[in-house]
Amino acid sequence: MMSEKSFAIEMKNVTKEFKILNRHEGLGGSLMDLFSRDYRILRAVDDISINIKSGEIVGYLGPNGAGKSTTIKMMTGVLEPTYGEILVNGNEPYKNRVRNAENIGVVFGQRSQLWWALPLVESFRLLKDIYMIPDQNYRQMLELYQSLVDIEPLLHKSVRQMSLGQRTLSDILAAFLHDPKIVFLDEPTIGLDVSMKAKIRNLIKGLNQKKNTTVILTTHDMGDVDALCQRIVIIDHGKMIYDNDIAHLKQYFGSYRTLRLRLEKSGWKEILVDESKTNVMSVISDYQKNEIVKDIKLEEISTEEVIKKIYEGAVA
Ligand SMILES: Nc1ncnc2c1ncn2[C@@H]1O[C@H](COP(=O)(O)OP(=O)(O)O)[C@@H](O)[C@H]1O
Ligand SMILES: [Mg+2]
Repeated sequence: MMSEKSFAIEMKNVTKEFKILNRHEGLGGSLMDLFSRDYRILRAVDDISINIKSGEIVGYLGPNGAGKSTTIKMMTGVLEPTYGEILVNGNEPYKNRVRNAENIGVVFGQRSQLWWALPLVESFRLLKDIYMIPDQNYRQMLELYQSLVDIEPLLHKSVRQMSLGQRTLSDILAAFLHDPKIVFLDEPTIGLDVSMKAKIRNLIKGLNQKKNTTVILTTHDMGDVDALCQRIVIIDHGKMIYDNDIAHLKQYFGSYRTLRLRLEKSGWKEILVDESKTNVMSVISDYQKNEIVKDIKLEEISTEEVIKKIYEGAVA
């Protein structure tokens, strides 16, 4: 495959299949499994082609089991594609794992890659040695970190003593420390409270802007998408079902409005109205037949609803 210099990641017809053993019941079954050739093939990623430009933040979305993590594992060189080709910074990740690692950073959800018992700053010093980060770059990076998020209180804490949010924050800082060209974040905000999510989004955005780092982000949180991603790629059952700007997507649903009604007895109700088919006033008066409407808000379709529509197959 020809490498286009301008692309950080190129995937061409990438498929990943897992061989899954069909298990047999009981003790005899377990014995049979030892010698069994009774496999089925699970296609976790199915013929995906994408090109990602350097400096982009791409939201890689899809329901549970869609194949997001498997894709990221192939991009980071943990798994080898069954078919197709991947180039990350011009390298084949699986075949050049060491070289690939120099140019990428990775955060996998709640699994920390830091040394548990060490104060964060000691983990950073180890990473500095491992990646041979020059003193000056290291200092500048810590200064940049401090300007984006208050890291001082974290530096002398061991990861073990940290809250989940602080740990995630530390993991993200560690992933960016050697100034990699691409950072992969797999569900980074899962389980975090609102203020920590905001902090982390701010940090990712700031690092992307200052360092032009390409970011591949998987998330279920549409707040992450709204705050960070221009472009989204959606996969379902291993297949890509959407790849475009989020703005383009909202335009597609331009006639949709989110109508929020505060009803006297049942509180806030949220109704998605397609104005090309239904009149908003008629929806409101329908509600008024049964209850007193205390407040009305009309907003554009939310990212959450847009994604839901796509999962339902609204966009071909
Ligand atoms: N190592 C593996 N062996 C067998 N099946 C796997 C393996 N890893 C993932 N899968 C299966 O592949 C599919 C995609 O998984 P995954 O990529 O983790 O999805 P996502 O990250 O989108 O939730 C799922 O059906 C999952 O059970
Ligand atoms: Mg996953």
